[in-house]
Amino acid sequence: MENGTVKSFKLRGSRITDAQTAARQRLWPTFGIDYESKDLIFPDHFPGLSTFTMEIGFGMGEATVEIAKAFPEVGFLAVDVHQPGIGKLLAMVEENVLRNIRVMDEDAHLILQNMISDNSLDSIHLFFPDPWPKTRHHKRRIVNERFIELISGKLKENGVIHIATDWLPYARWIQDQFETASKFSGGVVDRPDWRPLTRFEGQGIRKDHHVTDMSYRKV
Ligand SMILES: C[S@@+](CC[C@H](N)C(=O)[O-])C[C@H]1O[C@@H](n2cnc3c(N)ncnc32)[C@H](O)[C@@H]1O
Repeated sequence: MENGTVKSFKLRGSRITDAQTAARQRLWPTFGIDYESKDLIFPDHFPGLSTFTMEIGFGMGEATVEIAKAFPEVGFLAVDVHQPGIGKLLAMVEENVLRNIRVMDEDAHLILQNMISDNSLDSIHLFFPDPWPKTRHHKRRIVNERFIELISGKLKENGVIHIATDWLPYARWIQDQFETASKFSGGVVDRPDWRPLTRFEGQGIRKDHHVTDMSYRKV
C-alpha cells in the first residue's frame, strides 16, 4: 500500500543551518529512530508510557514541542522529511528536556506500512498537510482512500486522527474522503484548545485563509 512513486511531499530547498546540522548529528542517536522494516515497539522508545500519537509532517516542530509539554503522559512519534525541521525539533527536544518525543526522517507511508503495528496508535496529528491545490497534483494529497485504509489498521479502536488545514477546497476533499470511510465517524470540529498555532498556519492566516479542524474516530 505504498503511495507508489507519487510523493505527498516535495523536499524544499530551504537551507539547513549549521546549528540544525549539529543538532541532527549530536542528538539523533538519543531522540531519533532509524527507519527499518521492523515493527517499532513503542514502550522501548517511551518507557513508562502507554498512550502514543504519531504526528505526520511536523514541519519545524514548534507545535509538536508545545503539545508534548502539555501532555507528558503521551509519547509522540514525530515524522517528517524536512531536514531543517528535523534538526530544529531535535534541538528543541533537548532544550525543553522532553522525554516524550522521538523523531523519524522518512515518508510516513513507509513508516505506517512497515513499522507501526496494527492497533497501536491512540491518535494521529496531521496539521496543515501540503494542500496541493492544482488539479494535476491532487494525486499527491496525503489524505486519500488508501491512506484512510492504512491508518484505520494502525489506530486503536476509538483512536482519533485530528487534521487541520487552511485550504478550504482541501478541507472539503478530506471530508469527502472520510464520508465514504465506514471505519471512521466524525467531521469538522472547533479548534481544540490543545492545538497551538503552527508555523504554516500563521502564514495562511496572514493571507486571510480560513482554518478548518476535523476529527475522525475509528469506530
Ligand atoms: C505544509 S507543511 C506543514 C508543517 C507543519 N505541520 C505546520 O503546520 O507548520 C507539511 C509538512 O508535511 C511533510 N510531509 C508531507 N508528506 C509527508 C510524508 N508522506 N511523510 C512525512 N512528512 C511529510 C512535509 O515535509 C512538510 O514539512
